[in-house]
Amino acid sequence: MAENSAAQDGSLFSPYRMGKFSLSHRVVLAPMTRCRALNGIPRPALAEYYAQRTTNGGFLITEGTLVSNTAAGFPHVPGIYSEEQVEAWKKVVDAVHKKGGIIFCQLWHVGRASHRVYQPGGAPPISSTSKPISSRWRILKPDGSYSTYPEPRALEAYEIQDVVEHYRKAALNAIRAGFDGIEIHGAHGYLIDQFLKNGINDRTDEYGGSIANRCKFLMQVVQAVVGAIGAEQVGVRISPAIDHLDATDSDPLGLGLEVISRLNKLQADLGSRLTYLHVTQPRYTAYGQAESGRPGSEEEEAQLMRAFRKAYQGTFICSGGYTRELGMEAVAQDDTDLVSYGRLFISNPDLVLRFKINAPLTKYNRKTFYTQDPVVGYTDYPFLNRDSASQGPLSRL
Ligand SMILES: Cc1cc2nc3c(=O)[nH]c(=O)nc-3n(C[C@H](O)[C@H](O)[C@H](O)COP(=O)(O)O)c2cc1C
Repeated sequence: MAENSAAQDGSLFSPYRMGKFSLSHRVVLAPMTRCRALNGIPRPALAEYYAQRTTNGGFLITEGTLVSNTAAGFPHVPGIYSEEQVEAWKKVVDAVHKKGGIIFCQLWHVGRASHRVYQPGGAPPISSTSKPISSRWRILKPDGSYSTYPEPRALEAYEIQDVVEHYRKAALNAIRAGFDGIEIHGAHGYLIDQFLKNGINDRTDEYGGSIANRCKFLMQVVQAVVGAIGAEQVGVRISPAIDHLDATDSDPLGLGLEVISRLNKLQADLGSRLTYLHVTQPRYTAYGQAESGRPGSEEEEAQLMRAFRKAYQGTFICSGGYTRELGMEAVAQDDTDLVSYGRLFISNPDLVLRFKINAPLTKYNRKTFYTQDPVVGYTDYPFLNRDSASQGPLSRL
């Protein structure tokens, strides 16, 4: 971490060496589900969307991408488990590479944050538990309506290895599609977080109870993926202090530090580092629904993030509620190496340029976050400079 950032000028717009990747600045595209991959297949609009947000030497993380046919909990999310999906992703990756970007594919399984309509044969979704997500939360169904989350089926211990295997295969597929690496989505109340957090995980076998047991599934996934594609192409995302989808834990600091110490140990054993650790700020809960975070002072949140940043031996990315100024401050104070931006990047495809010259930002329209139109609310946000706006007429396809 600091060894690299200290060597450079410590600004959001300074270059950064992330393992084998040379980044030209620290502004990262955060992974964001956009529901434009009809029936799970990335279409040309995705190539245009990601290319629009690419800068030479910029780092992008894709939307959550399904590792298997039981992984979905949103409509029209792309997968990376079939040949057709791999072929379709190649075009997206090529479009980003042509502009000099570096792109990781985020591997996702939603676990119990699903519904029978998304499951093969209408089966119940899988999880660490058979407790459903509370009625505080609603699931978006393919017909655009919302409903409560159904009761999941707790995986038997012997089934877990099959799920790990899905992540491993998906990682190999991502590399075949040309991605520079993958990010394991261990955050925001989805499957891996459903094992990590004691507010959800009520297992009595070796995957539940102690923090060590709750970390087991994540670490098996990390090890399998690292074994398949190499540590230097693997990032991990966690959100120990985020209660999205009821993902609460009685000791977020202890949980985060335990995950980090395991990742550090794995790195030491391997003699090589993961590409990065990506942590979501506590203030960013209930994304897509509220702007503000959970109770807790900014200072408490900053301390938690600093503890994670300090403990992790490698590149650190933070995310959640960062403005241009907060991002600049975080990098300048060495609270992070990189900052990932979500909502501001949706509505400002040239966010990096706008940040650099401190230009006004376009406001995002929440109503089109999860709609299927390949243009509206997706690739039609304006650029400052119209010449860099279009990749051609791809977006209408
Ligand atoms: C529309 C939308 C979709 C998102 N989808 C994902 C996702 O697929 N995977 C993920 O890890 N985070 C997801 N997030 C969270 C973002 O990666 C990011 O952490 C969050 O938006 C906070 O950053 P921001 O305040 O800059 O928007 C999503 C956020 C939004 C707004």
